[in-house]
Amino acid sequence: MTQDPLVIFTPSGKRGHFEVGTPILTAARKLGVDLDSVCGGRGICSKCQITPSFGEFPKHGVTVSQDALSEWNSVEQRYDDKRGLKKGRRLGCQATVQGDVVIDVPPESQVHKQVVRKAATARDITMDPATRLYYVEVDEPDMHTPTGDMERLQTALAQQWDIGEVRVDLPVLTRVQPALRKGKWAVTVALYKGHNDAHERLLDIWPGYFEGRLYGLAIDLGSTTIAAHLCDLRNGQVLESAGIMNPQIRFGEDLMSRVSYAMMNPGGDKEMTTEVRQAINDLAGSIAETAEIDPKQIMECVFVCNPVMHHLLLGIDPVELGQAPFALATSNSLSLEAAALDMDVINRSARVYILPCIAGHVGADAAAVALSEEPYKSEDLALIVDVGTNAEILLGNKSRVLACSSPTGPAFEGAQISSGQRAAPGAIEHVTIDPVSKEPRFQVIGSELWSDEPGFEEIIASTGITGICGSGIIEVIAEMRIAGIMDPSGLIGSAEQTGTARSVPEGRTHEYLLHDASDDDGPRITVTQADIRAIQLAKSALYAGARLLMDEMGVDKVDRVVLAGAFGAHISAKHAMVLGMIPDVPLDKVSSAGNAAGTGARIALCDVTARHKIEKIVQEITKVETAIEPRFQEHFIAATAIPHATERFENLASIVTLPEVSFNAGSDDEPGRKRRRRRR
Ligand code: FES
Repeated sequence: MTQDPLVIFTPSGKRGHFEVGTPILTAARKLGVDLDSVCGGRGICSKCQITPSFGEFPKHGVTVSQDALSEWNSVEQRYDDKRGLKKGRRLGCQATVQGDVVIDVPPESQVHKQVVRKAATARDITMDPATRLYYVEVDEPDMHTPTGDMERLQTALAQQWDIGEVRVDLPVLTRVQPALRKGKWAVTVALYKGHNDAHERLLDIWPGYFEGRLYGLAIDLGSTTIAAHLCDLRNGQVLESAGIMNPQIRFGEDLMSRVSYAMMNPGGDKEMTTEVRQAINDLAGSIAETAEIDPKQIMECVFVCNPVMHHLLLGIDPVELGQAPFALATSNSLSLEAAALDMDVINRSARVYILPCIAGHVGADAAAVALSEEPYKSEDLALIVDVGTNAEILLGNKSRVLACSSPTGPAFEGAQISSGQRAAPGAIEHVTIDPVSKEPRFQVIGSELWSDEPGFEEIIASTGITGICGSGIIEVIAEMRIAGIMDPSGLIGSAEQTGTARSVPEGRTHEYLLHDASDDDGPRITVTQADIRAIQLAKSALYAGARLLMDEMGVDKVDRVVLAGAFGAHISAKHAMVLGMIPDVPLDKVSSAGNAAGTGARIALCDVTARHKIEKIVQEITKVETAIEPRFQEHFIAATAIPHATERFENLASIVTLPEVSFNAGSDDEPGRKRRRRRR
């Protein structure tokens, strides 16, 4: 008995015998091979492209002859004429099996494709979006078997796509009849099925075959900035990334001052909710405009945020988060209509997913970092620090993961720093100070050259030297410590004590003059004593949070440190360690993960199964609440010294020698006073 031809798919390796004449798309579906299709095999969408291979395949035990597939047909020819098919490609819905064949499914034809992140520490994102397009042909109405248009659309979806119940909201329902008639009973629909949904939702409908794309926004809603990535929901590609300042800053720079604002001003929470929602609408509009897409094609948004931002976004008064036991209104993930958050720039039926919070002050942003960095898969003990106005800190490995949030304040983001500015051309980002001459040299964003290299002046002529960005501040203060301009308590010495005229009196303290262009009406860029105190408070909070997690884990050392966050990505590991921001580890064990919270949001946007995953993971993470932990204060105080009052930084000592200097105050600077005033 002769067997039906064998069809082997690569890269999946799936294989099966199929009757002569079976379309490749049908064979793929029967074997569960990941081959895309929007038009259901009608030769319209071109998503089903495959590449047949011919010749001997000893590995597979087949010989594929040139006539293993049906001949190139008129549908393929039409598509090739109109759009062009890559050489060797066929449409899987048109080419039929004629003999044994090996079929390669290229990445762009796979629905659940992996999107490879470019960074060295990258993980791949699997594409499995909650919203997809389906082209469907619907029966015309018939007086003898009266049914509604929506019901016939549902029947067609069931027959042609095996789709179960579809629900529709009124605004979309009103558009079903015109779309069906205009499309001559063929339409493309956008269907959304959340990870916990038993049914699909009709989000939008277009007459005929819709050529456009669907998009999603992954939004990292931070206390200081709101960052968004616009992603193509078919391939995960980031079309555009943009960020704006959070307008709530005017109600308070840090989270607790916003909670206080809500407590002390009736309706204050509503005011902040309105502001942030408006900002998100503005951001969505501008990002769509820059990417030159219709914002109505944005069908989904995923939010990650800390608990206070979470509540203010949702319109929930954050007052409970201002006092122990810091009860969240809900820590579960949320799946909502975008309209419920007044998101009216994007598609009116768009859906929103908000990652779960871990608990108390540990929010959905920490959950997103966990999703992106996967400490629960780590063999060694990893400390992951997402540096922002609040630091999200995770410590863990395969056996256990702990998390806390530490109130670092906005100093790391350049706020509260006299010459601080955001990372933009003209900002000083790298600094070294000669330990003998105490003279600085620096690099600014936009120039590869150092300030003492020939050609520097010309390169920076257009931007100037405008201020110091967050990573620059870390470097300059650490360099001041290495050069003996500042002592371990954080005090800047006088010109006499330090041996440099760059130590300039400022009231009863001193400042270090980094760059002076005042003769040319340019800025005078200094590091003041107050700047150092602000960074000391921030770094102590960060270190104390990490140390608290280490106590809880019962360890004195970690194996590696991952610095995340837009700012964390640019911090020099050596300088962070000189300051004592992070525990002492070998320098090559400090890596940077970029915007891990934003990446976590992108993963949840592109892969609906990741939503299940993170919801399960947060249940297993042990949360440590810094605000009520007495040891936090102890750790905080010990960590104000630079690098630390009591801990030995052995790895650091092997690469840099810190001078033993002490500059007597004789000033009214007193870090403890600020600490006491400091609000959490
Ligand atoms: S499935 Fe749409 S063109 Fe083949």
